[in-house]
Amino acid sequence: MSDHMIETTLSELERYYDTVPRAGGARAEDFGPLTLFVQEGDGWQYYARPALGGAGATAADVERVRARQRELGVPEAFEWVAENSPSLRTAVEAAGLHVHAHPLMVLDPAAAAVPALPEVRLLGADDPLLTAAVTVPALGFAEPGTAVGEAGVAELAAATADPEAGARRDRVSAMLASGRTVMAAAARDGVVLSSGQYNPVGDVAEVVGVATLPAARRRGLALGVTAALVARARESGIRTVFLSAGDEDVARVYARLGFRRVATALIAEPPAA
Ligand SMILES: CC(C)(COP(=O)(O)OP(=O)(O)OC[C@H]1O[C@@H](n2cnc3c(N)ncnc32)[C@H](O)[C@@H]1OP(=O)(O)O)[C@@H](O)C(=O)NCCC(=O)NCCS
Repeated sequence: MSDHMIETTLSELERYYDTVPRAGGARAEDFGPLTLFVQEGDGWQYYARPALGGAGATAADVERVRARQRELGVPEAFEWVAENSPSLRTAVEAAGLHVHAHPLMVLDPAAAAVPALPEVRLLGADDPLLTAAVTVPALGFAEPGTAVGEAGVAELAAATADPEAGARRDRVSAMLASGRTVMAAAARDGVVLSSGQYNPVGDVAEVVGVATLPAARRRGLALGVTAALVARARESGIRTVFLSAGDEDVARVYARLGFRRVATALIAEPPAA
């Protein structure tokens, strides 16, 4: 990808990040150079991020947002693209937050399609596999990285019986029905082993929540799930597909599908107690 393409894509991503919480029903609170997105009711809690076209924020701006986040009882989280808001990291760190960096990757438009896996399919809003598919990420993200781990089918069955799994299912089902998300899952013998989603806004989509049960890792399932998402995104006319990879090991999986690192996604939160 040329430097010009990367620059254009980074501006598109800035608009995407500003639109997606609003499209999801979040309220945007204006803090000058920063915007705090607040989700009403139950569900995914958003973050604060640079206001679209806003000037550089100071540590005092970050503090004002943190005070409001504490008042609302929402996470003191900030997310942004390092290259788009180069001075924010210093301000956020001066305010006492801890910053994590993640490779921000964009699918090369020239990437060749990867053959589909027979056990992978897209899920509809009423799919019987949906509760398991939305629960796999809870187990997967509890064991970050790409190594094989312990949690498997028995742990998934226990986790899907939890009422929180039903609530998560209902939220994702509503998003699937309204076209705000697309979900794919890999299942064997009716058991979901890996799943992932993409969230489209116009012709830009972010791939999110890709996870494989720790006991089912290193068999090509996440590659297959992400390939199915990419194929559907392309068929639906999405021009820009992007994602933030957990770390360099995870980024390698996406690189096999033609995702290229173009920038760094930064997430800030209070240091662990
Ligand atoms: C990252 C994650 C989704 C990968 O899932 P996965 O199903 O194991 O992924 P894959 O099997 O496609 O690829 C993982 C590795 O297994 C290897 N592999 C794939 N098929 C294989 C096979 N048949 N035999 C041996 N190795 C194989 C791949 O080459 C890759 O190797 P690498 O680490 O050297 O690059 C999973 O580890 C996970 O859930 N991690 C925690 C959550 C997370 O970080 N998600 C990503 C957020 S961006």
